[in-house]
Amino acid sequence: MNNLKSLFRHHNVQKSDIHGDLYDRIFHTMRDKKIVFLEIGVYQGGSMRAWSDYFSEAAIYGLDNYAAISKDISEEIENVGRAVIFKGQQEDEKILKRIIDQVCGIFDVIIDDGGHQSLQIETSFKVLFPFLASDGLYIIEDLHLAPQTIEFIESSDLNYKFCEGYDNFDKDICVIRKKGAIKSQKIH
Ligand SMILES: C[S@@+](CC[C@H](N)C(=O)[O-])C[C@H]1O[C@@H](n2cnc3c(N)ncnc32)[C@H](O)[C@@H]1O
Repeated sequence: MNNLKSLFRHHNVQKSDIHGDLYDRIFHTMRDKKIVFLEIGVYQGGSMRAWSDYFSEAAIYGLDNYAAISKDISEEIENVGRAVIFKGQQEDEKILKRIIDQVCGIFDVIIDDGGHQSLQIETSFKVLFPFLASDGLYIIEDLHLAPQTIEFIESSDLNYKFCEGYDNFDKDICVIRKKGAIKSQKIH
């Protein structure tokens, strides 16, 4: 079981085969790198297990408010694989800053697969994006669920750039980089 499509299926991840293929293309060069990886939206921990299996050297963090999960389950998944799970709201700047402190202020990959509402996505982006590595990736899933967010990102002064081929808001993922990132804008 070597690719993300199979790992997503195996761990009952709430992502499609399309996500699996896209993420394989984007992440395959990082598999054995010591990266710092954060996903907002943990649910029952499937994606945390898949990322832990896929990235052999990564420090993996998750954030979830566990609104849809019973207390018992949320306690059970506080540590999943090598992942450390924070409990809180993605629109709460205090918890976001705690995570930033924990990772010593730098992320290589951030995926927002949390509440999918504009205020949530915008607050997380505004607070976390400045702490993305210069060649890091900030990925927002299902952005079409919060179309107003596009305007927010475009009017922000956060020195961002949409990645070519991953800038279509109607698609499954939207990938954002720092302007002037060392790597080419094209990911694969
Ligand atoms: C689509 S599920 C995540 C699925 C998971 N990433 C996966 O791929 O298997 C969305 C998760 O976001 C969480 N969530 C919803 N609103 C949130 C918020 N305001 N802050 C943090 N997490 C939130 C929900 O509790 C739920 O577990």
